[in-house]
Amino acid sequence: MANLSLNSTLTTPNRDNDEKSLEDLPKARFWQTIDIYRWENSWFEPGLMKTAMAFRSSFPAQDDDIFLASHVKTGTTWLKSLSLCIMQKNHQKHDFDILTTESPHFHVPTIESTIYATKPSQIDLHDASSPRLLHTHLPYAVIPDSIKNSGSKIVYIARNPKDTLISNWHFLNSIMKQNQEPFPLEMAVDCFCSGVYLYGSFFDHVLEYWLESKKRPEKILFLKYEEMKSDPKREVLKIAEFLGKPFENEREVDEVLWRCSLERLKNLEVNKNGSFLFYVPNSSYFRKGVVGDWKNYLTSEMEERINQTSRRKFEAFGLFL
Ligand code: A3P
Repeated sequence: MANLSLNSTLTTPNRDNDEKSLEDLPKARFWQTIDIYRWENSWFEPGLMKTAMAFRSSFPAQDDDIFLASHVKTGTTWLKSLSLCIMQKNHQKHDFDILTTESPHFHVPTIESTIYATKPSQIDLHDASSPRLLHTHLPYAVIPDSIKNSGSKIVYIARNPKDTLISNWHFLNSIMKQNQEPFPLEMAVDCFCSGVYLYGSFFDHVLEYWLESKKRPEKILFLKYEEMKSDPKREVLKIAEFLGKPFENEREVDEVLWRCSLERLKNLEVNKNGSFLFYVPNSSYFRKGVVGDWKNYLTSEMEERINQTSRRKFEAFGLFL
């Protein structure tokens, strides 16, 4: 079978419906820096959108695939690291730690971002022999039907909206506003709450996966960053069970949690240096990892605005973040 890499497979959309030109789509300025376009009720940077269209129209999901999914800055790097260790634990010698070899974002590529990768992904989409561990930031509405209809599993991580926004504010300022004034926080709150935001409304993104996970709990595991922080053992056991790779003993659990801890990952050479996506330093994925850090930044008006949006979108569906 042809050895097609992730990049070579996801090049051109082939569904008529997806072949929209950018001029047909609503456009907005994001973070005073880039134009984003509205497609399928979400907002995308053009390169990511094109790959997302190709992904949706041509991705061949397999029953044993595992997809990690998240909006941005909700704990993706942590989830990638944990899932990677869990999936590897029976196959590797005890002293081999895959996390020391490359960034977690290399080992578990974000499918639509691979066009910006500095190194080609090693994942072979046609290699049926091993379960593939992949990630996407795409909304549930946009992921391919082949994923939704196959036996593959999805693990989604959500985070408190205020911490998510502050985390992204730091992240985007560091990559889009280098040596410039940060993007005004009032304006960031405004685009966050209005939904004119990279990868679309955070609130709709989380809600869609939440509702799907309620409908199909065997298909989608819904995690919360705050619960992972407050009881990491319980949450990591849950992930391992869901992925069909239960832990054999307590020592294994402790080992995985230690390997994936923020302090450790942040200080690994592979994460301190280099850049897997050409515009994003590997180090920028690791900051404080503190629940409630938003209190150091948001005014009470900003807090209330986000709380109101959150209540309006989530409360009726029993979701509290
Ligand atoms: P803060 O900016 O609040 O510190 P993502 O991985 O989705 O980009 O999210 C990044 C956020 O997760 C950052 O939050 C980062 O510090 C935190 N993070 C990264 N690795 C982590 C880990 N191993 N454990 C806990 N939090 C982690």
